[in-house]
Amino acid sequence: MYVKAPVSICLFPAAGYGTRFLPATKAMPKEMLPVLTKPLIQYGVEEAMAAGMNTMAIVTGRGKRAIEDHFDVSYELEHQIKGTSKEKQLADIRHIIDKCTFSYTRQVEMKGLGHAILTGETLIGHQPFSVILADDLCVNGDEGVLTQMVELFKKYRCSIVAIEEIDPSQTDKYGVIAGEEIAPNIYRVSTMVEKPAPADAPTNLAIIGRYILTPDIFDILRETKPGKGGEIQITDALMEQAKAGNVIAYKFRGKRYDCGSVDGYVEATVDLYEQSKKNDER
Ligand code: G1P
Repeated sequence: MYVKAPVSICLFPAAGYGTRFLPATKAMPKEMLPVLTKPLIQYGVEEAMAAGMNTMAIVTGRGKRAIEDHFDVSYELEHQIKGTSKEKQLADIRHIIDKCTFSYTRQVEMKGLGHAILTGETLIGHQPFSVILADDLCVNGDEGVLTQMVELFKKYRCSIVAIEEIDPSQTDKYGVIAGEEIAPNIYRVSTMVEKPAPADAPTNLAIIGRYILTPDIFDILRETKPGKGGEIQITDALMEQAKAGNVIAYKFRGKRYDCGSVDGYVEATVDLYEQSKKNDER
């Protein structure tokens, strides 16, 4: 599908349970786990804003109200800290609330990432959109991963997935692609498989949590049968687009932390802490 419209909306599937972080995530959404002082989902929203988007569509679920409260004014708190040195700690979130519109819908049953994205259709309508999985935290100086992908979208006008090379033993944790490298770091996807065993994986090029999708994906998702793990997989729906040559995979510039795992979360915390100390010294 060739799509003319720009990408102005970002979808955040945020209904998952975050079981790897129990008990921390028993009553708190995993998207609200902080790296330093900022919750994971705020990093995602800032990355989307930097890429030119100001509409954030969030698919939530039970127990996720803290996300809505985070992207809203807290009058009591504002009143309490008005005129104190603490006010500056709210500057970034105030800026976000000023510039962006947030809309929410609930995923009632957990039937996979593809199902979560289809649930978001009501907030997206018929336009291309980006998807951020907030537990994949991506950093790359001033040019975020989504900014890089929006640039590519202007050229290719089809769905785009961000990929990175992983250790071949880890393929069963990711969607894995294969395709022809049509330009440096850019692949026209021919095959996509959700979480293959290492022996069955076509390559070690893994999809990470950044997508740009054309809106025909919704019709495809409606027809997509449950796949790996009995869930409706976005990877399977994208494979339908790929059959028509309409999926690009992009090996992005930057570093991605798997903050859905304790190891990745700690690594992100340590790296961003060291970076912030360096910035303070300047
Ligand atoms: C999802 C996708 C998978 C992708 C991954 C990136 O899996 O299904 O294709 O590689 O996100 O983080 P999940 O991590 O939700 O199991």
